[in-house]
Amino acid sequence: MTGIRFIKPEELKKNYIAYPNTVAVVSAFDREHRPNFMSVVWQSQLSMDPLLHGVSISPKRYTHSLIMDSKRFSVAFYAFEALDIYVLGGRLSGRDYDKVATAGLDVNQGRVLDVPLLNGFYAALECDLDRIVTTGDHDLFIGRVRGIHLDQQVFAQDGITPLGARPTLYLGANRFVTIDRSTLHAKTLEDLKITV
Ligand SMILES: Cc1cc2nc3c(=O)[nH]c(=O)nc-3n(C[C@H](O)[C@H](O)[C@H](O)COP(=O)(O)O)c2cc1C
Repeated sequence: MTGIRFIKPEELKKNYIAYPNTVAVVSAFDREHRPNFMSVVWQSQLSMDPLLHGVSISPKRYTHSLIMDSKRFSVAFYAFEALDIYVLGGRLSGRDYDKVATAGLDVNQGRVLDVPLLNGFYAALECDLDRIVTTGDHDLFIGRVRGIHLDQQVFAQDGITPLGARPTLYLGANRFVTIDRSTLHAKTLEDLKITV
């Protein structure tokens, strides 16, 4: 394969291979009910029934200890226009900074769970900690989704409408990108002239 370089796992410096990935904000309360949040690009929906969402968090993060303690968290998605929240959430630690105050965000309590919801999102999930899977140097916190908040202007019946909001994707190395709406294209097997 010309042009393809083979790298051994131990030689890989940064793992940006599967990027871009949608980035989210994970929030949790501390024992004094102070909110904290962090950026999480290693996140994914995991199951429809039951509804599960996973966030992979290093034990080095302050948020890690908050979720271990409170056993619940929220996951929220912000449009590209609001990406400063991801820079703040991903480059400052709640151990040293009140990030919510620094960002000038309003905090609401979840509708069904005692989790922080920071204003401005287009989608947010309230999650109970279902279980933790230690994967390696990160722990996968599997959240059981108990409540969903969706901006109705953004979500049509078939999910996010690119015309409603531009999601924020992360490329690694402090670089963010969004989708190009002009590439929107629905394609089926019939278009490929494949009949099943
Ligand atoms: C865009 C972006 C995405 C990130 N994704 C993750 C992630 O998926 N998991 C993780 O453990 N850290 C991730 N980080 C790093 C944490 O967000 C960062 O260490 C943060 O300061 C932790 O905050 P805390 O100490 O208040 O919990 C990311 C950072 C950035 C900038």
